[in-house]
Amino acid sequence: MTKISGTALQEHLETLLEVTAFPPPAAFAQSALWKDPDVYAEADADPQAWWDRHARDLHWHHPWDTVLDWSDKPFAKWFVGGKINAAYNCVDRHVEAGRGDRVAFYWRGEEGEEQTLTYSWLHAQVQRAANALVDLGVRPGDVVGIYLPMIPEVVVAMLACARIGAPHNVVFGGFSVESVRERLEESHAKVLITADGARRRGKVHQIKQEIDTVTSSLPDLEHVLVVRRTSVNCPMAAGRDVDWDDALAAANPLAPIQAFDAEHPLFILYTSGSTAKPKGILHTTGGYLVGVAHTTKYIFDLRPETDVFWCSADVGWVTGHSYIVYGPLLNGATSVMYEGAPDYPHRAIWWETVERYKVSIFYTAPTAVRACMSWGAEEPNKHDLSSLRLLGSVGEPINPKAWLWYREVIGGGNCPIIDTWWQTETGQIMIAPVPGITAAKPGCAMRPLPGIKADVVDPDGNPITEGQGLLVLRRPWPGMLRTLYNEPERFVRTYWSRFGPDTYLVGDAARIDADGDIWILGRTDDVINVSGHRLSTAEVESAIVSHPKVAESAVVAQHDEITGQAIVAFVTPVEGTETEGMDHELRDHVAEMIGKLARPKRIIWTYDLPKTRSGKIMRRLLRDIAAGRDLGDVTTLRDPAVMDQLRKLIAERGDSED
Ligand code: WTA
Repeated sequence: MTKISGTALQEHLETLLEVTAFPPPAAFAQSALWKDPDVYAEADADPQAWWDRHARDLHWHHPWDTVLDWSDKPFAKWFVGGKINAAYNCVDRHVEAGRGDRVAFYWRGEEGEEQTLTYSWLHAQVQRAANALVDLGVRPGDVVGIYLPMIPEVVVAMLACARIGAPHNVVFGGFSVESVRERLEESHAKVLITADGARRRGKVHQIKQEIDTVTSSLPDLEHVLVVRRTSVNCPMAAGRDVDWDDALAAANPLAPIQAFDAEHPLFILYTSGSTAKPKGILHTTGGYLVGVAHTTKYIFDLRPETDVFWCSADVGWVTGHSYIVYGPLLNGATSVMYEGAPDYPHRAIWWETVERYKVSIFYTAPTAVRACMSWGAEEPNKHDLSSLRLLGSVGEPINPKAWLWYREVIGGGNCPIIDTWWQTETGQIMIAPVPGITAAKPGCAMRPLPGIKADVVDPDGNPITEGQGLLVLRRPWPGMLRTLYNEPERFVRTYWSRFGPDTYLVGDAARIDADGDIWILGRTDDVINVSGHRLSTAEVESAIVSHPKVAESAVVAQHDEITGQAIVAFVTPVEGTETEGMDHELRDHVAEMIGKLARPKRIIWTYDLPKTRSGKIMRRLLRDIAAGRDLGDVTTLRDPAVMDQLRKLIAERGDSED
């Protein structure tokens, strides 16, 4: 497609909206790793043999004797008896094979700084960092917290943990220190790796200083390793805090490889569930590595010798774990890592970066595509994006218009669009088109990957052949979570109790169409997906009510053009409180408790919340109010006058966004 924008582009997209499905571009399909649809039947015929075969792409220090032990379901064990080291597979084996000079990451900082990290560089750094952790007393099984910006050290830190069998617990840099505290406390982290400061949109945030306000209440935390990213002065507690550079310089440069059991924990990653308390998703080593190595290779059709891969997520989310760190490195790929936001220092920075490093595979979230779309095609059109050959999407449903814009404007009409559905819990991509095979429908995640079995079921668990229902997964898969850290009952209750221990309840609603293709509709629980980030309504409510001037609160989601969903908070103040001008204060309070990403877009003050006679908050009504929908029957309300008041308030005040 020639580069067009404005009305011509709009008209072009309108005509494409008529197209039902887009087959892979012919040239792509011809040379794709998978082009034979028989892969589905082959995997289905014997899923264990399938995974057995693909697991052999990794290096095992000792082979497994059983692919899957499902006897204690839903607690799965994969590659039982196998011994493996994650860091060895990500780094050492590529260096040993003579590929040490290959670039692992082209790193780009917010201020335009660049660093080229080779596999040899990673090899040296990871060994030193691993030894530095051992010197600080970290032993296999000890949890290490990581709270770092998108800098090379975050990858080194994760791999150093993996090398010595210390599960990492990465906390997204956008979370508040209070969230860090909670996650470190829950996981009993022994060491925290953080930075003096982080650059965000040209400003320096004093992370270490902020962290110091919460570390004293963490009895298990013995040391804080501090990476110097900025020139801010930060306090260092004698005996506890250690400078990263000093620790690495003092450490032995050689760290022998220790092989761990396939089921040894690799990491914990906290994610939001239905309650205020985040869930510690536990992933183990062998199965997770097989799942992410395999999907990175086949779903992105990755050729490590020639491709440049860029997953624009943050390492603090599962997408970053699986498709910035483990998946690409296991495959010996070359990736791009960017420190900043998509519009900093300017709105063409992503496209400038694609051109600069000749990125061939780009993986991002629909919210980013929609934001770029709203900034106009002129920005990407300024750059040569012809190196791109595949585009991926993840994190939330992508609307057909954004899908088409992504395909036409970014992909020039030549790239398959791979809408990948998966979760922190699944570890690996589960439902997606296969790039060389599937004719993809805009907005549709399409089919479970070869070896994966998913269904859309009715409330009794019966499969629906066409229509809307609950998404479930029917068969264990290697990258699956093994449990919730220290909460095995919650693990069973949340995912495996509704339809029995053979059926994993996803928590998403989905529609299956007449062709058997799956359209993800969104969460069915009280989880809000803001810009592809999971937040629980209970978590946000609990942050709001912890404000001294708040009596009660209910949080619901509202559709948002850019972020997919936005948070709307209904708040009842403590009697006698003047709420005029309080919105800012409350938003700042939520930012402090959880992080800026959880700040409500709208705050609606009300003297009461609509409740049933038994006192239950009627969220459906609140969602309707937030969306401006007709409220229907409100006769079961304890105090129907509340609704009138709310309706009036909204009409008067409108949006209260920053
Ligand atoms: C949603 C992110 C539609 C879904 C990898 C899921 C999606 C939750 C898609 C997991 C997609 C993820 N289409 N919805 N392609 N990918 N989701 O744990 O609701 O941060 O349950 O993992 O995001 O979010 P999580």
